Order: sequence, then structure tokens, then C-alpha cells
Amino acid sequence: MSERFYITTPIYYVNAEPHIGHAYTTIVADVLNRFHILSGMDTFFLTGTDEHGDKIVKAAEQSSESPKEYVDRISRMFRELWPRLNISNNQFIRTTDPDHQETVRLILSRVKEKGDIYFSEYEGLYCFGCERFYTEKELVDGKCPDHQTEPEVIKEANYFFRMSRYQQWLIDHIHANPGFIRPERYKNEVLSFLSEPLDDLCISRPKSRLTWGITLPFDDNFVTYVWFDALINYISALGYPSGSRFETYWPSAQHVIAKDILKPHGIYWPCMLKSAGIEPYRHLNVHGYWNISRDKMSKSLGNVVRPLELVDIYGLDAFRYFLLREMVFGLDSEFSEAALVSRLNADLANDLGNLVSRSLTMVEKYFKGDLPEPGVARAPDEALKQSALDLVDAYGAMMRDLGLHKALMAVWEVISRVNKYIDEMAPWVLAKSDTERLSTVICYIFETLRIVAGLLWPFIPESAQKIQSQLGLARQGKDVTLQDLRVWGAERPVRPITKAPSLFPRIEKKEVEISATPKADDKSPSPSKDRTVASPGVQGVITYEDFQKMDLRIGVIRAAETIPGSKKLIKLTVDIGEERTVVAGLKGHYAEQALVGKEILLVANLKPATLMGVESHGMILAATDSSGLHLLVPDTEAVAGTRVK
Ligand code: MSP
Repeated sequence: MSERFYITTPIYYVNAEPHIGHAYTTIVADVLNRFHILSGMDTFFLTGTDEHGDKIVKAAEQSSESPKEYVDRISRMFRELWPRLNISNNQFIRTTDPDHQETVRLILSRVKEKGDIYFSEYEGLYCFGCERFYTEKELVDGKCPDHQTEPEVIKEANYFFRMSRYQQWLIDHIHANPGFIRPERYKNEVLSFLSEPLDDLCISRPKSRLTWGITLPFDDNFVTYVWFDALINYISALGYPSGSRFETYWPSAQHVIAKDILKPHGIYWPCMLKSAGIEPYRHLNVHGYWNISRDKMSKSLGNVVRPLELVDIYGLDAFRYFLLREMVFGLDSEFSEAALVSRLNADLANDLGNLVSRSLTMVEKYFKGDLPEPGVARAPDEALKQSALDLVDAYGAMMRDLGLHKALMAVWEVISRVNKYIDEMAPWVLAKSDTERLSTVICYIFETLRIVAGLLWPFIPESAQKIQSQLGLARQGKDVTLQDLRVWGAERPVRPITKAPSLFPRIEKKEVEISATPKADDKSPSPSKDRTVASPGVQGVITYEDFQKMDLRIGVIRAAETIPGSKKLIKLTVDIGEERTVVAGLKGHYAEQALVGKEILLVANLKPATLMGVESHGMILAATDSSGLHLLVPDTEAVAGTRVK
């Protein structure tokens, strides 16, 4: 019987439309699900929507809909988004599903019978945004740290869950199971919460204040607190308590969440499970936040990035690849469309796309599309083979450890190796002189590509499958296993190999930064999809020493102003650790204000020159092609003054 793997995302609130934060978590869960399929496991993947509580009622009121109409509409937006992001979930749960509500009532009754629920009057500081009481200590300057609003004092009688009873058990469990909450920093955060006495959890809301929720099984005058309701989705979706799905998958449960909901998942949920007599989950996997210009993404800040807009422009797999390659699981990341374009051009179009297309072209050109049999291998062939085989195991270990970006880096190391191998073996020379050697080289390239495509499937499923299909492989996507990839020569093409259109067309970096738009209907201009091909026309040769004479620096433009009387020139103040005045021919290509804050590359040791009466101390690097002028910029933010080597 194969091993099991159960993975979940948070169930998202339906008070806002999906953005890249939701997309990221769900794509991570998808990658992990696909990786475990590749590992030969029997997997189950759950996502869904969280539909009860004050927040939802308020959002429904604002859009003049009944709560039911409203939740149906927004929940559909999430449900319809996932197939467009190629998400492989097996189920989509809604907390308004009758089965879920039944399970919640059952757990409440069980916890009550256990003596872990009591009724009590409570006066406290309540944040309506978070739907929970705060202690004074948790507030920042008297305000809720998440909503920056002052909580209201509320006095009411409610039901409480005796969470404090499980505090010591939870501390012991975390110590005994080091990977229970990971990465480590979040485990430490939970242990630090637990180093203070734990308050009991208020788990009801009086119907006088809120009716949109699940009625308590033991008191009709109250509905269930939204978190107590929501967390139970992870087991109600498995049919708990009846049916075999729960027994099959629950022992392997792993949750993926961001750090914002660490406390409910790291503390409330294990205590609830313990009280209900259910084993805790196996791993809580916690990632960081995507920020925009260092701010949290939120509807109120109007900086929400919509996944489908990016997918429409750059393609789904470029979007998935970027999110997974850019974020170190557990840490925050800054979202920038310019960085997405850089990754697409450098990693996907250049490294991977070119590799696939040049390899296919060679099989077609030299062997009419039929992969030849290899001859005797030589040292460079064996070295390439070893690096590809080592990759399979290293990749597996990184994936199990949530090092998704590391796994991608490792795959790209092998991609660079094959590209280098092709350059060094020069098949185009062998084609004229040594067919046997050419056959061996082509086979080793093919085999490495087969392994690379298999390992990329969890990340960029559609493109990986296209590569597998272009390689003429019978087994593709989920039908491939890690075991197949460990065996060199395990599969040969069953169809002739033919040249195919490029997988990832390059995108010219022009007017990117489009998607932090305040509203769906308020569309900023989209970056042009023109794909201008550079024709380098390399000129002359310089020595390394010549090049070293040049002092190239990263600079930040602090000010930009027109030079009266000039049609082309702009006067810039550039920060390279010191301020420089630089005159550049950018007029007509960039608006002055758009230049301020931009990072550029500056030749910093040019002899000063006077242009239109202004002394210029340096030259900014740019390239001009048929589509206009392109400033050369660092692909991620770098410190002003850094030397370019
Ligand atoms: N409904 C609760 C979860 C209940 S789970 C039993 C909830 N919903 S939410 O819609 O606010 O989703 C929060 C989750 O969305 C985060 O934990 C994370 O998975 C994802 N993200 C929302 N914004 C994000 C970023 N800016 N960056 C990364 N992930 C983010 O909380």
C-alpha cells in the first residue's frame, strides 16, 4: 500500500477577492501535492472558503446582498480561479456545506462532554476585524495590530473552551516533534506564546449580535465562533467521523498557511483536536508574506495584485515559477513585476527554453527526429549523468524540507551544466566528423532533459508536460515517478522528436509594474507584449584589463529635471553613495517623475563633459532597439553605490 499525503490550504475568507497571497499559498500546496504524487504517494489536497462570521455579514451588507448570495458569489470566484492556476485540489470545501456544519456540532458536543466548555460572563476589548477579544498587552498603541483600529469594549456572556488545560501537553508535543511547526522560527514563536499562561478561548457569539454562523448544539441562542468552525474543515472534508477517508489521510496531514494565522493553527487547533480525542496534524508549514513596496497587501491600501492579470500577460507557468523561485519559504518577499519579467527572461526563456529548443533542433536536424543509440561514454558524459542523477535525490530532500526555491536552484544548476556541455561538446562540429560521438552526446542531453522535465512538473506542470511531449515520451506529468527519474535511460521516445515553438517567449522590460491597481475596473496600461529581438552585432574586442578600468556602479535616481532648450536631455541627480549630476538623453522615453527612485547602472569614472551648459559626471547605461530605449537596471533592489563586476 502506498504512503499517504494530505495537504491543505487555509480556507480563505470570502470578504475579499483572491490576490497573489492566496494564489501563492495554494500554488505551494499544489507543488507539494504534485511532488508527493511524483514520489508515488496516494495524496489528497483540500482548499476552500471560510464563510461565517461578522466580517462576511459586513461585506455582504456593503455589496447589498444577503450573506448567502454574497458568499456564493465570492466563493465561486475562488473555486473558478484554481483550475486557471492549474491547482490539483481534490476537494473544495465551504463552511456553509451541511456536512461541515454537522461535524462542527459533533466536535462541540464532544468537547463539551469532556468538560472543556464552560459558560461565563466576559468583558473585554473586541476587534470586529479580527473577530476576537484582545488583551491590553496584545494591542499596539491601544490599537489592533492588524487593523490599526481601537477595539470596542464588549461585555457579554459566552461559552469558553478550556484551552489552558492543554497548554503543557502542547509544549511537550512541540518539543517531542521538532518538525511539528516549521520552519523553526515559527515553532519558536508558538513556544514563546506558550511561555505565558494561555487564556481560554471564547467560542461563541450571541445571536443577538450575530446570526450568520453554526448554532451551538447545546444552546440555540449562540452561534459558533468563526475560528472554531473554520479549523474543523480540515477533518470535516475527510468525512469525519464516518467514512474511511479520515482514517486514510488524517495521519499524514500537513497544513500550509502564512504567518498571519499561526496562533489559531499552532495553538487553538492542536488543543481542539486533543480535547476531541483526535491525533494532531503532522506538520504546520508556515510561510511569510508577499509585500508590495514593503507594505502588506490589502484591499484598504489599494495595492492588491490579482493573479489572473499576471497570468494573462506572462503566462501561468512564468507566474508560478516566479512565486516559487523568488520566495524563501518562511520569509517575506517583495513582489515586483520587473523581477517577474527578469526571471521569465533569464531563467525560463534563456536557460530552459533555449536549452529545449536547441536540443530538439539537433535531434531533428542530425537524426531526422529519431533519438540514436549512445556510443561509449567519456568523462564529460559521465559527469553530466552523475550531476543529473544526484539532482533527483538532492531535489527530493529539499522538497521534503520545504526548500522549494532551493530545489529550483538545483534544477537550474543542472540546466546550466547541460547548456555548457552542449557548448563544449559542440555537436555541430561532431556532426561533420564523428557520428558515434554525436549520438552519445545527443543521448546524454536527451536523458538529462527527461530528468529535468520530470522534476519541473510539480512547479510548472503545463510546460513540463509540453517538454515531455516534445521529447516524444509516453509517460508524462503524473504518470512519471521519481523512481523513473533515478534510472538513467529508463525511457526512450515513442514518437519522432520535432522542433517546437518556443516555450517561454521573452518579454521586453518596458512599462511593467502594472498590477497593483486599486480596482478591477481601473486598469493601468498593460506592458506591451511586443517581443523585440535584440540583434547584438558584437563589435571589436577589449581585454579584461580594459574592462576593469571602468568603474560601473549601481545608482538611484533621486531627482530629474528638464534642461531648458534641450529636446533630448534630462538632468539627473544620481545617488551612488555620493550624489552625482548626470546628463542623459532620456527625454521622450521616460517622464521625469517616472525616473525618480529608479535604480540604474552608471559609468562613474568618465571624464566630466558639459552638455547644454550642465556638467555631467557619468553615463547611464541603456540600450535602444526598434521599440525604443531600455534602461539597464539591476533585477532586484541593490544598495546604491555597489560596484558592478
Ligand atoms: N479564513 C481564515 C483562515 C481559516 S483556515 C482554517 C483566513 N482567511 S484569509 O482569506 O485571510 O487567508 C489568509 C491566508 O491567505 C494566509 O494565511 C495566506 O495563506 C494567504 N495570504 C493572504 N495574504 C497574503 C500575503 N500577502 N502573502 C502571502 N500569503 C498571504 O485567514
